[in-house]
Amino acid sequence: MDRATIERLPKFDLHCHLDGSLRPGTVRELWDALPPGERPPISGPVEEAVLPHVPCSLEEFLQAFRITVALLQRAEALERAAYELGADAAAENVVYLEIRFAPLLHLARGLTPNEVVEAVLAGAKRAEKEYPIRTGVILCGMRQEPPERSAAVARLAVRLRDRGVVGFDLAGPERGFPLSIHAEAIRIARDGGVHLTLHAGEGCCPEHIAEALDLGAERIGHGVYLFQDPATERRVRELRIPLEICPTSNLQISGILRTLSDHPLKRYLDLGIPVTVNTDNRLMSRTSSTDELWRVVEAFGLGPDEVRTILLSSVDASFAPEPVRRELAHQIRAAL
Ligand code: ADE
Ligand code: ZN
Repeated sequence: MDRATIERLPKFDLHCHLDGSLRPGTVRELWDALPPGERPPISGPVEEAVLPHVPCSLEEFLQAFRITVALLQRAEALERAAYELGADAAAENVVYLEIRFAPLLHLARGLTPNEVVEAVLAGAKRAEKEYPIRTGVILCGMRQEPPERSAAVARLAVRLRDRGVVGFDLAGPERGFPLSIHAEAIRIARDGGVHLTLHAGEGCCPEHIAEALDLGAERIGHGVYLFQDPATERRVRELRIPLEICPTSNLQISGILRTLSDHPLKRYLDLGIPVTVNTDNRLMSRTSSTDELWRVVEAFGLGPDEVRTILLSSVDASFAPEPVRRELAHQIRAAL
Protein backbone atom coordinates (compact mmCIF):
# COMPACT_ATOMS: atom_id res chain seq x y z
CA MET A 1 0.00 0.00 0.00
CA ASP A 2 1.27 3.49 -0.73
CA ARG A 3 0.72 6.76 1.10
CA ALA A 4 -1.76 8.06 -1.49
CA THR A 5 -3.97 5.01 -0.88
CA ILE A 6 -3.87 5.60 2.87
CA GLU A 7 -4.77 9.24 2.32
CA ARG A 8 -7.81 8.26 0.22
CA LEU A 9 -9.16 5.68 2.69
CA PRO A 10 -11.94 6.62 5.11
CA LYS A 11 -10.17 7.02 8.47
CA PHE A 12 -11.01 7.35 12.16
CA ASP A 13 -9.48 9.21 15.05
CA LEU A 14 -10.69 8.06 18.45
CA HIS A 15 -7.91 9.66 20.50
CA CYS A 16 -7.35 13.31 19.71
CA HIS A 17 -6.81 16.09 22.26
CA LEU A 18 -8.33 19.43 21.31
CA ASP A 19 -5.66 21.43 23.14
CA GLY A 20 -2.99 19.36 21.40
CA SER A 21 -4.38 19.72 17.91
CA LEU A 22 -4.48 23.44 17.10
CA ARG A 23 -3.18 24.63 13.74
CA PRO A 24 0.24 26.32 14.13
CA GLY A 25 -1.20 29.41 12.41
CA THR A 26 -4.06 29.53 14.90
CA VAL A 27 -1.60 29.25 17.79
CA ARG A 28 0.14 32.36 16.45
CA GLU A 29 -3.10 34.31 15.91
CA LEU A 30 -4.56 33.46 19.30
CA TRP A 31 -1.24 34.24 20.99
CA ASP A 32 -1.01 37.65 19.30
CA ALA A 33 -4.59 38.40 20.34
CA LEU A 34 -3.93 37.47 23.99
CA PRO A 35 -3.44 40.37 26.41
CA PRO A 36 0.24 40.13 27.49
CA GLY A 37 -0.84 39.54 31.09
CA GLU A 38 -2.55 36.32 30.03
CA ARG A 39 0.49 34.91 28.24
CA PRO A 40 2.42 32.20 30.07
CA PRO A 41 6.18 32.87 30.09
CA ILE A 42 7.96 31.30 27.09
CA SER A 43 11.36 31.63 25.48
CA GLY A 44 11.42 31.97 21.71
CA PRO A 45 8.54 32.08 19.23
CA VAL A 46 5.26 30.57 20.37
CA GLU A 47 5.17 28.15 17.42
CA GLU A 48 8.35 26.57 18.81
CA ALA A 49 7.35 26.79 22.45
CA VAL A 50 4.40 24.44 21.77
CA LEU A 51 6.71 21.75 20.39
CA PRO A 52 8.16 19.56 23.15
CA HIS A 53 11.78 18.47 22.79
CA VAL A 54 11.24 14.80 22.04
CA PRO A 55 11.85 12.13 23.14
CA CYS A 56 10.80 13.16 26.61
CA SER A 57 8.69 11.99 29.51
CA LEU A 58 4.91 12.39 29.48
CA GLU A 59 5.29 14.97 32.26
CA GLU A 60 7.72 17.05 30.16
CA PHE A 61 5.52 16.68 27.09
CA LEU A 62 2.52 18.03 28.96
CA GLN A 63 4.35 21.32 29.67
CA ALA A 64 3.51 22.48 26.14
CA PHE A 65 -0.19 22.37 27.02
CA ARG A 66 0.24 25.28 29.45
CA ILE A 67 0.45 27.44 26.34
CA THR A 68 -2.36 25.98 24.25
CA VAL A 69 -4.70 25.87 27.24
CA ALA A 70 -3.99 29.58 27.87
CA LEU A 71 -5.06 30.26 24.27
CA LEU A 72 -8.38 28.46 24.76
CA GLN A 73 -10.07 30.49 27.47
CA ARG A 74 -12.77 32.11 25.34
CA ALA A 75 -15.80 30.56 23.66
CA GLU A 76 -14.80 31.80 20.18
CA ALA A 77 -11.33 30.26 20.49
CA LEU A 78 -12.74 26.92 21.65
CA GLU A 79 -15.34 26.91 18.89
CA ARG A 80 -12.70 27.75 16.31
CA ALA A 81 -10.27 25.10 17.54
CA ALA A 82 -12.93 22.37 17.36
CA TYR A 83 -14.13 23.54 13.95
CA GLU A 84 -10.63 23.68 12.48
CA LEU A 85 -9.77 20.27 13.89
CA GLY A 86 -12.89 18.81 12.26
CA ALA A 87 -12.09 20.57 8.98
CA ASP A 88 -8.44 19.39 8.97
CA ALA A 89 -9.43 15.82 9.77
CA ALA A 90 -12.12 15.84 7.07
CA ALA A 91 -9.60 17.17 4.54
CA GLU A 92 -7.64 13.94 4.91
CA ASN A 93 -10.75 11.73 4.79
CA VAL A 94 -11.23 11.18 8.49
CA VAL A 95 -14.93 10.30 8.53
CA TYR A 96 -15.32 9.97 12.30
CA LEU A 97 -13.47 11.93 14.98
CA GLU A 98 -13.73 11.86 18.77
CA ILE A 99 -12.39 15.09 20.25
CA ARG A 100 -11.32 15.09 23.91
CA PHE A 101 -10.43 17.85 26.32
CA ALA A 102 -10.60 18.75 30.01
CA PRO A 103 -13.38 21.36 30.42
CA LEU A 104 -12.21 22.58 33.84
CA LEU A 105 -8.91 23.81 32.37
CA HIS A 106 -10.76 26.49 30.38
CA LEU A 107 -12.40 28.55 33.12
CA ALA A 108 -9.70 31.21 33.65
CA ARG A 109 -11.63 33.97 31.83
CA GLY A 110 -15.01 33.34 33.36
CA LEU A 111 -16.56 30.65 31.17
CA THR A 112 -18.63 28.06 33.00
CA PRO A 113 -17.84 24.35 32.40
CA ASN A 114 -21.12 24.09 30.51
CA GLU A 115 -20.19 27.02 28.25
CA VAL A 116 -16.79 25.48 27.52
CA VAL A 117 -18.35 22.23 26.34
CA GLU A 118 -21.10 24.04 24.40
CA ALA A 119 -18.45 26.04 22.51
CA VAL A 120 -16.56 22.89 21.53
CA LEU A 121 -19.78 21.13 20.52
CA ALA A 122 -20.73 24.14 18.38
CA GLY A 123 -17.38 24.08 16.55
CA ALA A 124 -17.61 20.34 15.98
CA LYS A 125 -21.19 20.67 14.70
CA ARG A 126 -20.14 23.45 12.32
CA ALA A 127 -17.45 21.17 10.87
CA GLU A 128 -20.02 18.37 10.54
CA LYS A 129 -22.31 20.69 8.62
CA GLU A 130 -19.63 21.78 6.18
CA TYR A 131 -17.68 18.54 5.71
CA PRO A 132 -18.41 14.82 5.42
CA ILE A 133 -17.32 14.02 8.98
CA ARG A 134 -19.09 12.86 12.17
CA THR A 135 -17.80 13.80 15.58
CA GLY A 136 -18.20 12.88 19.21
CA VAL A 137 -16.82 14.65 22.28
CA ILE A 138 -15.04 12.99 25.22
CA LEU A 139 -14.66 14.95 28.47
CA CYS A 140 -11.46 14.42 30.46
CA GLY A 141 -10.81 14.63 34.15
CA MET A 142 -7.16 15.19 35.09
CA ARG A 143 -5.45 12.41 37.03
CA GLN A 144 -3.34 14.78 39.15
CA GLU A 145 -6.31 16.85 40.30
CA PRO A 146 -8.57 16.19 43.31
CA PRO A 147 -11.30 13.58 42.72
CA GLU A 148 -14.05 16.17 43.29
CA ARG A 149 -12.96 17.85 40.07
CA SER A 150 -13.10 14.71 37.95
CA ALA A 151 -16.48 13.85 39.50
CA ALA A 152 -17.76 17.28 38.39
CA VAL A 153 -16.56 16.56 34.84
CA ALA A 154 -18.28 13.17 34.89
CA ARG A 155 -21.56 14.81 36.00
CA LEU A 156 -21.20 17.33 33.17
CA ALA A 157 -20.65 14.50 30.67
CA VAL A 158 -23.83 12.79 31.88
CA ARG A 159 -25.82 16.05 31.60
CA LEU A 160 -24.60 16.66 28.04
CA ARG A 161 -24.85 13.05 26.91
CA ASP A 162 -27.60 13.75 24.42
CA ARG A 163 -25.86 16.81 23.02
CA GLY A 164 -22.80 15.11 21.52
CA VAL A 165 -20.76 14.15 24.57
CA VAL A 166 -20.10 10.44 24.14
CA GLY A 167 -17.42 9.57 26.65
CA PHE A 168 -15.40 10.22 29.79
CA ASP A 169 -11.61 9.84 30.16
CA LEU A 170 -8.81 10.58 32.61
CA ALA A 171 -5.77 12.31 31.11
CA GLY A 172 -2.65 14.03 32.43
CA PRO A 173 0.48 12.66 34.11
CA GLU A 174 0.40 8.96 34.83
CA ARG A 175 3.28 8.19 37.21
CA GLY A 176 2.13 8.42 40.81
CA PHE A 177 -1.53 8.94 39.91
CA PRO A 178 -3.47 5.67 40.00
CA LEU A 179 -6.89 5.74 38.38
CA SER A 180 -8.56 4.45 41.55
CA ILE A 181 -8.30 7.97 43.04
CA HIS A 182 -11.08 8.82 40.56
CA ALA A 183 -13.32 5.80 41.11
CA GLU A 184 -16.28 8.03 42.04
CA ALA A 185 -16.05 10.01 38.77
CA ILE A 186 -15.86 6.79 36.81
CA ARG A 187 -18.90 5.41 38.64
CA ILE A 188 -20.87 8.59 37.88
CA ALA A 189 -20.01 8.42 34.18
CA ARG A 190 -20.84 4.72 33.85
CA ASP A 191 -24.08 4.93 35.84
CA GLY A 192 -25.07 7.90 33.68
CA GLY A 193 -24.67 5.95 30.45
CA VAL A 194 -21.50 7.71 29.31
CA HIS A 195 -18.86 5.55 27.62
CA LEU A 196 -15.53 5.12 29.39
CA THR A 197 -12.01 5.17 27.99
CA LEU A 198 -8.95 5.63 30.20
CA HIS A 199 -5.34 6.61 29.50
CA ALA A 200 -3.26 3.76 30.90
CA GLY A 201 0.17 2.24 30.32
CA GLU A 202 1.27 5.17 28.18
CA GLY A 203 4.44 6.47 29.85
CA CYS A 204 4.89 3.79 32.48
CA CYS A 205 2.96 1.44 34.69
CA PRO A 206 1.50 -1.66 33.04
CA GLU A 207 -0.46 -2.14 36.28
CA HIS A 208 -2.58 0.90 35.38
CA ILE A 209 -4.10 -1.08 32.52
CA ALA A 210 -5.43 -3.80 34.84
CA GLU A 211 -6.73 -1.04 37.09
CA ALA A 212 -8.51 0.60 34.12
CA LEU A 213 -10.21 -2.70 33.29
CA ASP A 214 -11.23 -3.23 36.91
CA LEU A 215 -12.84 0.21 36.80
CA GLY A 216 -14.84 -0.66 33.69
CA ALA A 217 -12.85 0.92 30.86
CA GLU A 218 -14.33 0.00 27.47
CA ARG A 219 -11.16 1.14 25.70
CA ILE A 220 -7.58 1.82 26.78
CA GLY A 221 -5.78 5.01 25.80
CA HIS A 222 -2.37 3.86 24.49
CA GLY A 223 -1.63 0.65 26.45
CA VAL A 224 1.95 0.65 25.16
CA TYR A 225 3.15 -1.13 28.35
CA LEU A 226 0.50 -3.88 28.14
CA PHE A 227 2.98 -6.52 26.93
CA GLN A 228 4.84 -6.19 30.24
CA ASP A 229 1.86 -7.69 32.09
CA PRO A 230 0.99 -11.04 30.42
CA ALA A 231 -2.06 -11.74 32.59
CA THR A 232 -3.62 -8.38 31.69
CA GLU A 233 -2.65 -8.84 28.05
CA ARG A 234 -4.62 -12.12 28.07
CA ARG A 235 -7.54 -10.35 29.69
CA VAL A 236 -7.51 -7.54 27.09
CA ARG A 237 -7.42 -10.16 24.36
CA GLU A 238 -10.24 -12.24 25.82
CA LEU A 239 -12.45 -9.22 26.48
CA ARG A 240 -11.50 -7.72 23.10
CA ILE A 241 -10.73 -4.34 24.67
CA PRO A 242 -9.68 -1.88 21.95
CA LEU A 243 -6.36 -0.08 22.32
CA GLU A 244 -6.14 3.55 21.19
CA ILE A 245 -2.61 3.48 19.83
CA CYS A 246 -1.01 6.83 18.93
CA PRO A 247 2.20 5.75 17.19
CA THR A 248 4.18 8.99 16.94
CA SER A 249 3.18 10.18 20.39
CA ASN A 250 4.08 6.77 21.84
CA LEU A 251 7.48 6.96 20.18
CA GLN A 252 8.03 10.41 21.68
CA ILE A 253 6.75 9.73 25.19
CA SER A 254 6.73 6.04 26.14
CA GLY A 255 10.46 5.81 26.88
CA ILE A 256 10.69 2.23 25.61
CA LEU A 257 10.56 2.56 21.81
CA ARG A 258 13.64 3.39 19.75
CA THR A 259 11.85 3.25 16.40
CA LEU A 260 8.28 2.63 15.38
CA SER A 261 9.10 -0.98 14.49
CA ASP A 262 9.72 -1.54 18.23
CA HIS A 263 6.06 -0.68 18.92
CA PRO A 264 4.10 -3.63 20.37
CA LEU A 265 1.07 -2.70 18.24
CA LYS A 266 1.96 -5.41 15.70
CA ARG A 267 2.19 -7.95 18.51
CA TYR A 268 -1.25 -6.84 19.74
CA LEU A 269 -2.65 -6.99 16.21
CA ASP A 270 -1.29 -10.53 15.74
CA LEU A 271 -2.78 -11.56 19.09
CA GLY A 272 -6.21 -10.46 17.85
CA ILE A 273 -6.47 -7.49 20.21
CA PRO A 274 -8.48 -4.68 18.55
CA VAL A 275 -5.89 -2.05 17.61
CA THR A 276 -6.91 1.44 16.53
CA VAL A 277 -4.50 4.07 15.18
CA ASN A 278 -4.94 7.69 16.27
CA THR A 279 -3.16 11.06 16.39
CA ASP A 280 -3.20 12.08 20.10
CA ASN A 281 -1.86 15.61 19.45
CA ARG A 282 -1.66 16.80 15.87
CA LEU A 283 0.19 19.97 16.89
CA MET A 284 2.72 18.70 19.44
CA SER A 285 3.50 15.55 17.47
CA ARG A 286 3.32 17.36 14.10
CA THR A 287 1.15 14.63 12.67
CA SER A 288 -2.11 13.70 10.95
CA SER A 289 -4.28 10.59 10.64
CA THR A 290 -2.71 9.79 7.26
CA ASP A 291 0.79 10.14 8.73
CA GLU A 292 0.00 7.88 11.65
CA LEU A 293 -1.55 5.09 9.61
CA TRP A 294 1.09 5.37 6.91
CA ARG A 295 3.94 5.17 9.45
CA VAL A 296 2.46 1.98 10.85
CA VAL A 297 1.94 0.47 7.39
CA GLU A 298 5.55 1.30 6.49
CA ALA A 299 7.09 0.15 9.77
CA PHE A 300 5.39 -3.26 9.71
CA GLY A 301 4.76 -3.77 5.99
CA LEU A 302 1.02 -4.08 6.62
CA GLY A 303 -1.20 -5.15 3.75
CA PRO A 304 -4.79 -4.17 2.91
CA ASP A 305 -6.30 -6.90 5.12
CA GLU A 306 -4.46 -5.63 8.19
CA VAL A 307 -5.37 -2.02 7.42
CA ARG A 308 -8.98 -3.07 7.01
CA THR A 309 -8.87 -4.85 10.36
CA ILE A 310 -7.53 -1.69 12.03
CA LEU A 311 -10.19 0.52 10.44
CA LEU A 312 -13.01 -1.89 11.30
CA SER A 313 -11.69 -2.06 14.88
CA SER A 314 -11.98 1.72 15.06
CA VAL A 315 -15.62 1.58 14.02
CA ASP A 316 -16.34 -1.20 16.51
CA ALA A 317 -14.56 0.70 19.25
CA SER A 318 -16.17 4.04 18.49
CA PHE A 319 -18.66 5.58 20.87
CA ALA A 320 -20.93 6.54 17.95
CA PRO A 321 -24.59 5.43 17.91
CA GLU A 322 -25.35 2.14 16.15
CA PRO A 323 -26.74 3.58 12.87
CA VAL A 324 -23.61 5.72 12.45
CA ARG A 325 -21.37 2.73 13.16
CA ARG A 326 -23.18 0.66 10.52
CA GLU A 327 -22.70 3.41 7.97
CA LEU A 328 -19.00 3.83 8.85
CA ALA A 329 -18.38 0.09 8.53
CA HIS A 330 -20.07 0.19 5.14
CA GLN A 331 -17.73 2.99 4.03
CA ILE A 332 -14.70 0.84 4.88
CA ARG A 333 -16.04 -2.23 3.10
CA ALA A 334 -16.73 -0.13 0.01
CA ALA A 335 -13.18 1.28 0.07
CA LEU A 336 -11.18 -1.86 0.90
N1 ADE B 1 -3.02 15.25 27.31
C1 ADE B 1 -2.64 15.50 26.06
N2 ADE B 1 -1.91 14.49 25.55
C2 ADE B 1 -1.86 13.56 26.53
C3 ADE B 1 -1.28 12.30 26.61
N3 ADE B 1 -0.62 11.77 25.59
N4 ADE B 1 -1.42 11.61 27.76
C4 ADE B 1 -2.08 12.14 28.79
N5 ADE B 1 -2.66 13.33 28.76
C5 ADE B 1 -2.56 14.03 27.63
ZN1 ZN C 1 -3.98 11.17 25.04
